[in-house]
Amino acid sequence: MKVRPEDLSQVPPAGERVPNPGIMVIFGASGDLTKRKLLPALFHLEQVGLLPKNFAIVGVARRPLGGEFAADMRAGIVEFGSVDNGDPKLDEFKSKISYYALSFDDPSHYAGLKAELDRIAKEKSIGPDRLFYLATAPEYFAPIIENLGAQEMAQPEHGHVGVVIEKPFGHDLDSARELNHQVNAVFHENQVFRIDHYLGKETVQNILVFRFANGIFEPVWNRNYIDHVQITAAETLGVEGRGPFYEKAGALRDVVQNHVMELLSFVAMEPPSSFDAEAVRREKVKAWRAIPNIPILNAVRGQYGPGVVDAKKVVGYRDEERVNPESGTETYAAVKLGIENWRWAGVPFYLRAGKRLKKRATEISIQFKQPPLLIFNRMQGGGPCQEIQPNLLTIRIQPNEGIALRFGAKVPTTPEMAVCPVNMDFDYAAAFGTSTANGYERLLLDAMLGDQTLFAHRDGVEVTWALYTPILEAWAAKNPEVFPNYFSGSWGPDCADRLLEHDGHLWRNNLGGK
Ligand code: BG6
Repeated sequence: MKVRPEDLSQVPPAGERVPNPGIMVIFGASGDLTKRKLLPALFHLEQVGLLPKNFAIVGVARRPLGGEFAADMRAGIVEFGSVDNGDPKLDEFKSKISYYALSFDDPSHYAGLKAELDRIAKEKSIGPDRLFYLATAPEYFAPIIENLGAQEMAQPEHGHVGVVIEKPFGHDLDSARELNHQVNAVFHENQVFRIDHYLGKETVQNILVFRFANGIFEPVWNRNYIDHVQITAAETLGVEGRGPFYEKAGALRDVVQNHVMELLSFVAMEPPSSFDAEAVRREKVKAWRAIPNIPILNAVRGQYGPGVVDAKKVVGYRDEERVNPESGTETYAAVKLGIENWRWAGVPFYLRAGKRLKKRATEISIQFKQPPLLIFNRMQGGGPCQEIQPNLLTIRIQPNEGIALRFGAKVPTTPEMAVCPVNMDFDYAAAFGTSTANGYERLLLDAMLGDQTLFAHRDGVEVTWALYTPILEAWAAKNPEVFPNYFSGSWGPDCADRLLEHDGHLWRNNLGGK
């Protein structure tokens, strides 16, 4: 069913969510994130009237960039935000962008930044609201926060002052704890926005709507009906010139501990009492806390060798730019875990994330149990109808965003009652049209408004790090025997298949919907 524009006219008017006049200060503004994601997202907010009239964006980085920064950001909005170069709003928006050069860890530079923000605020009639966005290398998070504190820039006078912290938030439990401590020494927890861009995705937010705005799924959303859950974050991309970063990160830190665990929490959490930050985040943390330690044998790793992806030959990870030719970093990780509570006891959750895989697909599949007695025949002659397959609910986070429910149907015209699996399919684009939103729009707006619902809480990051730190330590202590262990363009290493075979399951590799 297609949603008609008049159906959407009931959505509350944009004006109700417009933040107060303020300044967004982006540290690390010369990096890719600012140009590719943040500025296009801010411009989209401007286009739909969700930014205040008096608003300024100040990019901060070490390089002396001056006026060329705003021009470069304008070009980024056009290129990455699918905006027409002749859009009349672009030049006015560009006039809100400025740049300030500063060494992140030099305390003597911060008084100048404070004076610059005061000057801009006065010139543009902007009040005390400030949002500091930390998009720098993670080692600068603590010094920036400390320096903002020392200059008394973190304390709201009357308005809202917040700090957005990009991932990675720490690299293990101890470092995450220490960073939390440093952040909370300067900012109150309700000023802190630890970002995970997955929570900005419509399809991720829709998991909550699917579960809690519909009555028919919750009764079967438990161990009585669900056999197992698979969560896949498969990418065709390699490390894309981010060798030095990725060498220290690896797939478990880069994607599983955060993005995949966020997806898991939305699937596994109990219904919150309301959609406010405290209620939602409390239920997420409860679900994560119910996960017992993951035995090391339930975690496997892989690294891509050369191969063919999307019909193009690609090099192996060890031959990527600025990567150690004998690197032991994993570009693929798979984990089996359980959730010990009344809803999920005994239901395995299989998680995997990897680069240079066969297909780009982030998907959650929830496999239901077979009926207790199979009274119908399987269809003879092969194809997908050969087996009577269990019901499967597939949530396609990206691409081909949508949700499908597989069930068995009678094959017409066969004399016997032969059953073949078919799908009921909801397709976002067909129902709502395509969107140019990149996920950051919602998160930036929420951070400006002080709404923390879609951001990680300090307890949450510590619980997820506590789960994965022992695995990371065990992996660091012992080099993998054979790396690379999967070809680029495959579905990952054999050890990941064995992880499921033990339980009589297979990874679902028929991903992506279409
Ligand atoms: C980032 C990781 O957080 O997420 C990248 O650092 C990864 O390595 C990216 O490619 C995946 O995001 P998306 O939105 O493309 O699934």
